[in-house]
Amino acid sequence: MSTSTSETAPEQVAPQPADVARLREELIRELRELKAIVTPEVERAVRTVPRHLFIPEIPVEEAYAAERHYVTKKDEGGVSISSVSAARIQAMMLEQAEIRPGMRILEIGSGGLNAAMLAELVGESGEVTSIDIDQDVIDRAARLLPAAGYDTVILRCADGEFGVPDHAPFDRIIVTVCARDLPPAWNDQLAEGGRLVVPLRMRGLTRSVAFERNHDQLTDRGYELCGFVPMQGAGEQRERLIPLHGDDVQLRLDDDQQIDADGLRAALSMPRREAWSGTTVGKNNSRFDGLYLWMAMRLPDFGLLAATKAAVDRGLVARSWGLGVPTLLDGDSFAYLTFRATSEAREQFEFGAYGHGPHADMTVEKLASVIRSWDGTSLSARISAFSAGTPDELLPPDALVLARRHTRIAITWPSSSPPASTARQA
Ligand SMILES: C[S@@+](CC[C@H](N)C(=O)[O-])C[C@H]1O[C@@H](n2cnc3c(N)ncnc32)[C@H](O)[C@@H]1O
Repeated sequence: MSTSTSETAPEQVAPQPADVARLREELIRELRELKAIVTPEVERAVRTVPRHLFIPEIPVEEAYAAERHYVTKKDEGGVSISSVSAARIQAMMLEQAEIRPGMRILEIGSGGLNAAMLAELVGESGEVTSIDIDQDVIDRAARLLPAAGYDTVILRCADGEFGVPDHAPFDRIIVTVCARDLPPAWNDQLAEGGRLVVPLRMRGLTRSVAFERNHDQLTDRGYELCGFVPMQGAGEQRERLIPLHGDDVQLRLDDDQQIDADGLRAALSMPRREAWSGTTVGKNNSRFDGLYLWMAMRLPDFGLLAATKAAVDRGLVARSWGLGVPTLLDGDSFAYLTFRATSEAREQFEFGAYGHGPHADMTVEKLASVIRSWDGTSLSARISAFSAGTPDELLPPDALVLARRHTRIAITWPSSSPPASTARQA
């Protein structure tokens, strides 16, 4: 189903060692500042692995840029399906995994660069198995890894949904592709007490969650904001895209909810209503991800409203954040998150809601009240995964429960005390 459309560029002239050394140290400094590198072990792995040898298509400066990822393949629809991940995301996930020498690691989603850092972290007494569903990606890794001096990584073309039973158990499973579910093989092939680090999509929001195996339950040990290409194969479950104004304004839906698409399309042409929450953040506070997750948990019918720059310029919708903004779907009306500066100095910003539709006045108020109920923190939600057959009474009370084919994902927010009746199934 996929076509190779890499961002082709001629292979670069070999860089000077002094340039590489300088770029590497600058990268490490930046990753430390971003708190993507925390431990000396991960710092050493980032320092040792020559990144530029794994992305020969781009200039060496870009290979050592903290946020630069490199797309190696897109599908026919133009969706990126394979890439070399950005240095910040790789380092952050390596920290989440807490890898020690001698461990056995499974990486799902290959390419070579991250596998090389995993090999550095486990050392000669450990073992790294790296798999990809795409033979082209495995071929690339098989070419680049030995060329960079890494010839012990076990490479295999396989669907990560089923893990690699003949190399299990693993102390760590690192998934480097966006998953919506946690297939049984991951839990079964993880050693007791082992860690699974996985970019998990919950109501359209992706967080890299570090889970620890405790018998049949996976309990989170923290999570971080991230973005990844979608899973292919047996576990593929892409979002639905609902056009509200051609491809310029779209709703991204991750749940199976029924929506009034015609009503919402008509709503967009109705006058805009607004409500303001009184909840503010400083201009340097970029950690809105806690608010996003809070809204995803508290809004009964949740979607992400995404718009092109052209649509924003034409005033169809207010500014949009990349992949979309949290949106309350309310029958034939909807309201989405927005913000405004509270003074001319633009030091503080207040969150609010813009809405459209026949009863948008009420919808914006509902959204504003959910913003008001946020405690302002980013990372205090707890995410646990239970097998699909787990009865309600064994799930945490007051959880938002996301029902998947293999798992029930329960999200709770310990600092809140919602009434028990708010436990919902999505
Ligand atoms: C972001 S890339 C991996 C990046 C890589 N770990 C690195 O070193 O930067 C995601 C990869 O996951 C692969 N993939 C997608 N679905 C998969 C599946 N079900 N099993 C294994 N690999 C899969 C894609 O082919 C793609 O190459």
